Amino acid sequence: MVHKINTSEKLRDTLSLGDTNACRLIDGAGDYLPGIYLDDFAGRRLLSTSSSSLSPELRDWANSLPPSITTYWKHLDQQTREAPSLVAGKPLTEPFEIQEHGVRYLISFQSGYSQGIFLDQRENRLRIRERCQSGDTVLNTFAYTGAFSVCAALAGATTTTLDLSQPYLDWARKNMALNRIDEEGQHFCRGDTFHWLRRFARQNRRFTGIVLDPPTFSRDHQGNIFRVEEHYGDLVTLAASCLSAGGWLLCTSNCRRLSGPVFTSMVRNALPSGVHIENHPMPPDFTGEPYLKTVMVET
Ligand SMILES: C[S@@+](CC[C@H](N)C(=O)[O-])C[C@H]1O[C@@H](n2cnc3c(N)ncnc32)[C@H](O)[C@@H]1O
Repeated sequence: MVHKINTSEKLRDTLSLGDTNACRLIDGAGDYLPGIYLDDFAGRRLLSTSSSSLSPELRDWANSLPPSITTYWKHLDQQTREAPSLVAGKPLTEPFEIQEHGVRYLISFQSGYSQGIFLDQRENRLRIRERCQSGDTVLNTFAYTGAFSVCAALAGATTTTLDLSQPYLDWARKNMALNRIDEEGQHFCRGDTFHWLRRFARQNRRFTGIVLDPPTFSRDHQGNIFRVEEHYGDLVTLAASCLSAGGWLLCTSNCRRLSGPVFTSMVRNALPSGVHIENHPMPPDFTGEPYLKTVMVET
């Protein structure tokens, strides 16, 4: 196993990920290590396994690394969603920074199941940064810690960051500040995406671009349920009604139950004919199952 781990880590050395210090070092079966995932966050590591306990072999391996490398472990389980626990090295007591293509983000291993960024969206964030320009207005729905908003704002766009959770919106503000983005002109909106999209449509509010990256399942404060397989098409149609002429949608989903072609047709069928659609692959450090689907839509 140690040999396979070393091989997969060496493979990442050969990837050119730009000014980036956070990436996936082991991607399960893609690195011949089924059920084992390792992410590096600027020298702090998160080991995730599909098994509910950490094997003695992996624990010993983590403890054989230099003491400066802190390793946490979590069980990949959407039901329990437990926070990571320390396996080796010094405990992390404070949030810390990572860089991705030169953009700074705040990471925390103490804030529950997720650490503040989804590394599999790295190239999509870059895509947004490259696409946006001054004068654009970008709506980032299901925004989590606002990473897409940071990229759009760095390119000069005015952003609206929308999420159900106030703590995540506060985190998004911190990510903006970390990148010296003036909060003046950046908007933060707490609430349900469907509710706000309907409201924006009614108010005739239009955006140059909208990011649609929902969780596979969610329930808002009113008990309304969203399931990607059932409702993604409605989400796309509604979002498209809030776009200005020539606007774009970034449609993405990590729902493993949907294949790439099915997801693409869901998006296509939700839009008028004639829109331009482009599919994008996952980042090169994600060598395993290509679960993240990305469709860029230009209207
Ligand atoms: C998978 S994360 C999104 C990740 C994010 N797009 C990114 O890449 O940084 C899901 C987020 O959606 C938010 N959320 C869930 N249901 C929502 C809803 N109905 N309306 C708005 N936000 C919602 C959650 O609070 C969480 O922050």
